[in-house]
Amino acid sequence: MIKGIKTIVIVIVASLSVNLAQAQITKDILLEDGWKFSKGDFPTAAKATFNDKGWQSVRVPHDWAIYGPFDENNDIQIVKITQNNEQKETRKTGRTGALPYMGIGWYRTKFTVPAISAGDEVSLLFDGVMSNSTIFVNGKEIGHWPYGYSSFHFNISPYIIKGKSNTLSVRVDNKPESSRWYPGAGIYRNVHLIVKNKINLKTWGTFVTTPEISANVAKVNVKTALSDSLVKGFKLVYNVLDSKGTLLASGSALGKNEINLNLKNPKLWSPESPTLYTLVTKLYLNNVLTDQQQTKFGVRKTEFKRETGFWLNDKNVKFKGVCLHHDLGPLGTAINVSAMRRQLVLLKDLGCNAIRTSHNPVAPEFLDLCDEMGFLVIEETFDEWKRGKMKNGYHNYFNAWAEKDLTNMLERDRNHPSIIMWSIGNEVPDQDNKEGYKIVEYLQNICHKLDPTRLVTAGMDRINSALKNNFAASLDVPGFNYKPKQYFEAYKKLPQGFLYGSETASTVSSRGVYHLPVKMGKDIHHPDNQSSSYDLEYCNWSQVPDDEWAVQDTTAYSAGEFVWTGFDYLGEPTPYDDYWPSRSSYFGIYDLAGIPKDRFYLYKSRWKPEEPTLHLLPHWNWEGKEGQNVPVFCYTNYPSAELFVNGKSMGIQKKSNLNNQTRYRLMWNDVVYQKGSIKVVAYDESGKAVATKEITTAGAPHHLKLKADRTQLTANGKDLAFVTISVVDKAGNICPNATNDLIFKVEGAGKYRAACNGDPTSLQLFHQPEMKAFSGMAVAIVETSKVKGNISLKVTAKGLPQGIITLNAK
Ligand code: GAL
Repeated sequence: MIKGIKTIVIVIVASLSVNLAQAQITKDILLEDGWKFSKGDFPTAAKATFNDKGWQSVRVPHDWAIYGPFDENNDIQIVKITQNNEQKETRKTGRTGALPYMGIGWYRTKFTVPAISAGDEVSLLFDGVMSNSTIFVNGKEIGHWPYGYSSFHFNISPYIIKGKSNTLSVRVDNKPESSRWYPGAGIYRNVHLIVKNKINLKTWGTFVTTPEISANVAKVNVKTALSDSLVKGFKLVYNVLDSKGTLLASGSALGKNEINLNLKNPKLWSPESPTLYTLVTKLYLNNVLTDQQQTKFGVRKTEFKRETGFWLNDKNVKFKGVCLHHDLGPLGTAINVSAMRRQLVLLKDLGCNAIRTSHNPVAPEFLDLCDEMGFLVIEETFDEWKRGKMKNGYHNYFNAWAEKDLTNMLERDRNHPSIIMWSIGNEVPDQDNKEGYKIVEYLQNICHKLDPTRLVTAGMDRINSALKNNFAASLDVPGFNYKPKQYFEAYKKLPQGFLYGSETASTVSSRGVYHLPVKMGKDIHHPDNQSSSYDLEYCNWSQVPDDEWAVQDTTAYSAGEFVWTGFDYLGEPTPYDDYWPSRSSYFGIYDLAGIPKDRFYLYKSRWKPEEPTLHLLPHWNWEGKEGQNVPVFCYTNYPSAELFVNGKSMGIQKKSNLNNQTRYRLMWNDVVYQKGSIKVVAYDESGKAVATKEITTAGAPHHLKLKADRTQLTANGKDLAFVTISVVDKAGNICPNATNDLIFKVEGAGKYRAACNGDPTSLQLFHQPEMKAFSGMAVAIVETSKVKGNISLKVTAKGLPQGIITLNAK
């Protein structure tokens, strides 16, 4: 099991470190600006002559539904979720985010095609359109794609008029009750206009593997597909470059589509050291350069071994992973590289090394970032096969489309070194079928054929059936959703000799909200529609983190976990699916704004042993609860600590095997609240005091503190800065109960984009320049323009001095 790679055609603005010679080669143009959009159906909107003047001007990627309004009647679902062990139908309000994603919408734009040769090939590549899109060029229907998460491309050469303006129209049709989370709506990923010579290097047609790796040399195998498989007299020239553009290996093949190159002293790709190489492939026809592609790849070896699980480059590695849905919180699903990069930076802070793209293929830019920043990725395809979960879900398309969707994902993505496994499904109800394993074999075989270098997995929840009916045994790598107690039995019964937690925990919490008295339990509801941040509340099918870890720590054959989820996401507001208002999830380690919840420190204390973690909860502002019991927890990777309340010791707690919680957290359950401070002193193995952490009762809100994730931005009209705003007292302590109304104003070379406070019950619209603080905090997002210069974000709140931060765009 070896390899890595990814193919990119040359974007015309890209600077190349190799000589492009004289000939015209592939042009890949993003169609971003100048789109018109309208909701509703328009029978003649495909026609070039259609008048779209009254439509909204938008930029693509675009998510039409994120602008709201939130409404409990949007996609209301009166359903029984059997997966959640529900016995009767209830009225689910925020299941898809309570946002208006349903219905028909149209997009239109004009484009001209730069001619590069006589008879050149023109195509349109859509990275993803949500959903059921039909594409028209100059009024002619050129194709249709139902699944909103797939990339697809069509040759449009016969339909275009060269040198003139062409009309591209896209009809989108989102059915209600088609999703279990917020899917977004419209052309939410990039659209590429690609122009190539008639004979060319096929889109997604390069496949690079590294079948043999030693310290001295890696064998790099390249298979290249040409647009015309019968063409004769071609020559392929290959160069392998490092990140600085230095030539490391080269070769050429005459009339052959495959070559092996020797890459000397290869640097291996890993999460800690994500070294990438670039393969430049040049196609010559009769000695004329006709096409050129750049393909990023990595050299790495992945294996699963009996008893020990996953190995990367001969090192046993445990997945410290998270599941991610595709929305970007307040930005909705419209992809944005800065927002995705920020998510990955935050996951690195956590010590996370792996991501499962639940439950669908992701944007290609996301995988580029995972290659570059170093994450192990499981790319997943489907949430449904033949048997459905949702009335209008993917089961309606499975028979006709599954092979096409799976093929497009693999052909597009099999060169990414970050991808370590393909997942063919999540909790598909077909697990219960006697014949379900045949679908496993069908899909798994497609994967093996298109990519013999990677194993295939699926996330299973119906373990008892799947263990009996050959479903689990048929998978290359069995993935378990929320079943730590069944790892032992499964290990004995299954032939593979390893397994992993494809989904774990599903612990629920709202950042900074603590409910007293502290109770551990499942499906707990509080009158404020929030879940307690003591991290002891979970679902009837799930666990708290500690209960999963206790099993992982005694099963070397378990390869680690993918926590549900890294970030809160829009929709699926369990345990408040049938409570209103509530429109986003409570599962995240980070909230919807990307602010860490307490759980961040619990995971970090385990996942990032190289950094000390010492975190105290709850806050210490319990006005009116003086003299009452307020338990204090400490999340730390130190073995013991002593708690002091206003200087008085509450005793030393040591991690112990008494139960799963005392094993991983330090807890003082009998603390009596009095205003002042709580402070922990952490002790190392030898009992030496090595670190302290203190929380002080905050006074009244005094000013606003602004902190940007980045202050140097790119003036490209899409770079973003995420500014965290905290309401603090005179001494700078966060006011943990502050809900001040924050008003945003951006001046200079940028604009206000959105804000979010992480409150799952908030119905304030993200794109309006106003948001209440939640537990004392909120995040505002500033977008650059194409003009260079300073950008200032001004935040005002009644009675407080204005907060200002200055950013710069270059
Ligand atoms: C799983 C499912 C996820 C999500 C999660 C919530 O069963 O695969 O998509 O619904 O439960 O706990």
